[in-house]
Amino acid sequence: MLKGKKIAIIGGGKMGSIIAQGLISRKIISAKDITVTDVDADRRKFISSEMGLQVSGANKETVKNAAIIILAVKPQNMAQTLQEIAPAVNKSKIVISIAAGITTGFLEGYLAKGVRVVRVMPNTPALASAGATAVAKGTNSTAADIKLTRAIFDAVGITVEVEEKLMDAVTGLSGSGPAYCFVIIEALSDAGVQMGLPRELSLQLAAQTMLGSAKLCLQGNKHPAQLKDMVTSPAGTTAAGLKVLEEGKIRATLISAVEAATKRSRELASGK
Ligand SMILES: NC(=O)c1ccc[n+]([C@@H]2O[C@H](COP(=O)([O-])OP(=O)(O)OC[C@H]3O[C@@H](n4cnc5c(N)ncnc54)[C@H](OP(=O)(O)O)[C@@H]3O)[C@@H](O)[C@H]2O)c1
Repeated sequence: MLKGKKIAIIGGGKMGSIIAQGLISRKIISAKDITVTDVDADRRKFISSEMGLQVSGANKETVKNAAIIILAVKPQNMAQTLQEIAPAVNKSKIVISIAAGITTGFLEGYLAKGVRVVRVMPNTPALASAGATAVAKGTNSTAADIKLTRAIFDAVGITVEVEEKLMDAVTGLSGSGPAYCFVIIEALSDAGVQMGLPRELSLQLAAQTMLGSAKLCLQGNKHPAQLKDMVTSPAGTTAAGLKVLEEGKIRATLISAVEAATKRSRELASGK
């Protein structure tokens, strides 16, 4: 589906370069078919020499030569970027944006009538080929466009399709979520150190415990509550630990965190 198609990634920051590297290392696209652009010459040098990616400083020219355009600039740089590339985007191309809070309506407003736009929310575990990406249709994009977009992001993890109105919730959960998980892993490993474990070993145990538990959930045949019950024997160690988590209102805290991040995503989308 993607073989031989030229891809332009506009914005070679963290996410833009992760996506390019994922596509190339999984052999979904060959390196010669992807060009990453960036405004910063030092960044271009780094992307080219350290990551081996084809780079350019010319957005419009790169977009002209591509069939698929991935917009990976910060939301505040999006309007200016769209203005610059719009003359080079015709209906034969598909435009995919990963910018938080930027709606398909906003993107379509800058592009020629009928251009197919897809909005995507990836997350940073894409760097370890374990990303979670949600994909939403724009006004003109088709089922085939969604299939193609999912094939791109399946290269760096799993993908789901959602209605665009759910994108703020996705941002609050899986977009920001890695940060919540890192805090939990850090806290668990600090706790291990406090209980006498060497620092490195403690971090390894905490992170692998998170990874393994997530894998069990993704196997899909048991609810997390059942998996929790499997670890919790009567009057045992886990029951004692869980009581403390409940006293600390861990569930309510995590729910409030996702709620706050979702709200902030909505605010950013409305320019606040
Ligand atoms: N990081 C995440 O966890 C995450 C998750 C989901 C979605 N996203 C979205 O992904 C997008 C990129 O995020 P990021 O974390 O990768 O940001 P980033 O590291 O700042 O990358 C953006 C890059 O684009 C460059 N740039 C700015 N304007 C440009 C232009 N007109 N043409 C070409 N390049 C331009 C920036 O250069 P300068 O720094 O010199 O401006 C920077 O190198 C954002 O819209 C964000 O909302 C990020």
